[in-house]
Amino acid sequence: MPIPQPVPLVCKPTPLHPLPRLSAMLGLDLWIKRDDLTGFALGGNKGRKLEYLIAEALAVGADTVVSCGAAQSNFLRQLGAACAVHGLRCVAVAMHLPFEPEYGQPTDGRLAENGGNVLLDRLLGVELRLLPDGPWERLFEEMEREARRLEAEGRRVYRIPVGGSSPLGALAFREAGLEARAQDDGFQAVVFASSSGSTHAGLAHAYAGSRTRVIGVSCDPEPDLFDTLEELCAGQDALLGASVGLRREDFELRFEAVGAGYGVAETPVLEAILLMARREGVFLDPVYSGKAFAGLLALAEARELPQRVLFWHTGGVPTLMAVPEEAWKAAGA
Ligand SMILES: Cc1ncc(COP(=O)(O)O)c(C=O)c1O
Repeated sequence: MPIPQPVPLVCKPTPLHPLPRLSAMLGLDLWIKRDDLTGFALGGNKGRKLEYLIAEALAVGADTVVSCGAAQSNFLRQLGAACAVHGLRCVAVAMHLPFEPEYGQPTDGRLAENGGNVLLDRLLGVELRLLPDGPWERLFEEMEREARRLEAEGRRVYRIPVGGSSPLGALAFREAGLEARAQDDGFQAVVFASSSGSTHAGLAHAYAGSRTRVIGVSCDPEPDLFDTLEELCAGQDALLGASVGLRREDFELRFEAVGAGYGVAETPVLEAILLMARREGVFLDPVYSGKAFAGLLALAEARELPQRVLFWHTGGVPTLMAVPEEAWKAAGA
């Protein structure tokens, strides 16, 4: 299938501006790319991917989109909004806290089961199929089962993998990287949250061959994310007819801020959120952008960052409203 003409969802380019008080504190020249301000469904990195994914769903004549994720997923919220805009039925198979069995399920800092993105999904008319917590692999299997069940009922189903991380989703983020380079190509590093991989793969592709380090701060513990990044970059090469050929050793994916695992609110991340809010008036989230900023702080402390750094805000702010009160208190808020 050729690359579809994207449907417009996001206000672009998103702003890029300096963070003067944090720069002074950290001894860096620190800037921020505001993908929390896409103007689409309360913002976030997924709107860009959905411009392509929904275009493909429409091009193949789908009437229903099926995807999966954590119940507080920012992707499912933006997917629900994109489906609403285009008159598609949106079915989301979810668990509150899916996990990797080898690493175990985190026990503390569990996000609220209502409010935040769960509430916004309801307002958008997302059909949430909520399962008991279990491994990610089971969630993917259940998503496929649901898609087949809907097909058996005569629906024309378009499947979107977790987080919108197909090669087409990555290509959308490659464009985001080119957008940032057109705004200012003088950064020595770009730092952002990485999870299902297409944000990282897209940015790595956009900056390939440049002098800018592309540093993903992993929100998940498992190192096989390197394989996903390699696959998503090969997928972009195939879509573009290019041969950038990024391999797993080309990616900088850091695990300093993973903590107990995916999807919970932990003190170091909440402290990083407070620092950003109280120095720059910008809100981050506990699962992704706050973790990325906690990772940036850890790298700065270890003197592993160059001088001129772009922090890419990927959104996620609605989950701030799902952080338990005792977790905020433990972080000093
Ligand atoms: C706010 C936010 N930031 C970052 C990410 C990670 O992006 P990716 O899944 O493309 O790695 C996500 C994914 O859900 C997200 O919601």
